[in-house]
Amino acid sequence: MNLKNFLDQLVEHSLNNAAGDPSPAVVKQAGKPEFGHYQVNGVMGAAKRMGTNPRQLADQVVASMQESGSIEDIAELEVAGPGFINISLTPRFIEKSLATMLRDARLGNKADGETHPLGKRKYVVDYSSPNLAKEMHIGHLRSTSIGDATVRILEFLGHEVVRANHVGDWGSQFGSLLAYMSLLESEGKPLATELKDLEVFYQKASELMRSDELFAAQARQFVVKLQSGDEACRTLWQRFIDESITHCQAIYDLLNISLSREDVRAESSYNDDLANIVAELESLGLVEVSDGAKCVFLPEFIGKDDKPIPAIIEKSDGGYPYIATDLAAAKYRSKKLKVDEALYFVDRRQTLHLSQVHQRKSGF
Ligand code: ARG
Repeated sequence: MNLKNFLDQLVEHSLNNAAGDPSPAVVKQAGKPEFGHYQVNGVMGAAKRMGTNPRQLADQVVASMQESGSIEDIAELEVAGPGFINISLTPRFIEKSLATMLRDARLGNKADGETHPLGKRKYVVDYSSPNLAKEMHIGHLRSTSIGDATVRILEFLGHEVVRANHVGDWGSQFGSLLAYMSLLESEGKPLATELKDLEVFYQKASELMRSDELFAAQARQFVVKLQSGDEACRTLWQRFIDESITHCQAIYDLLNISLSREDVRAESSYNDDLANIVAELESLGLVEVSDGAKCVFLPEFIGKDDKPIPAIIEKSDGGYPYIATDLAAAKYRSKKLKVDEALYFVDRRQTLHLSQVHQRKSGF
């Protein structure tokens, strides 16, 4: 059995034995090395409810645990502070456990999710998720490797995992890229070669965007066309996306990352639901219009001026920002995929963004 669960049950049993109190044991990993390996936090609460001295109760629990005969080979117990019990595993026990694990190809883990208190779970893991207009940067590589390690561990432990590579394949930056692609095509330049270095491609397009009025106007046109589903524009966009994903896949393969094309769950795949998301939020009475943009003001997020920070869900030009897509993704994951938990591996600077997304679970 899982060691923490074992200790939890033993303490709970002893607490019941010593004091006739069915309180939870609350066994946690120790906060500091000097507290041993695990600590029991539940005795103080139990003593308070019973109106007894917590240290005395802790002594009784320790005595009862020792009497049970099931702890002496495993750990040493010590009452500490106002009524904590510190549990230190004995070197002999650690040695024995490691030797047993070593003899087992699965290191003593079953593949049925038993190590999780709630048993086998279904997870979606959102990781890597680069923006396809550019090369991945170190933040994406970090998310990629930590995310993939997590996915492998969860699968090893017997959980069901949906990998979600939430790639950024939508938004106004694609206007200039498409305009640049069509310019190159009209000059008869082979796109595959030009797209080999995405970073240079992006820089050239951005440069034209700044210096060439006509090009900039065309780029804006492309955004409108892309969003309205213009077929030729979509085809061009698809070529760009495919090429970018090929770049990413080459890096995944090089790093032995288990992501494949099937795991791409692009931002654009949520487009059809964005209007519904806004309508749902409106029907919940959460939407306010501010400077022409539809916003949700969450009192949980207060800015420097003491006013709630707006989460813009529809821009004044009718476009949908990043947060709308993430709301749609969250809804899809909970309603369609029916996952128990969603894990996001993403740059820390997106903390506010993702906390806003997940603040109002009730609606979705
Ligand atoms: N594409 C984003 C970026 O590169 C990361 C996406 C993270 N995942 C998410 N569901 N928002 O910054």
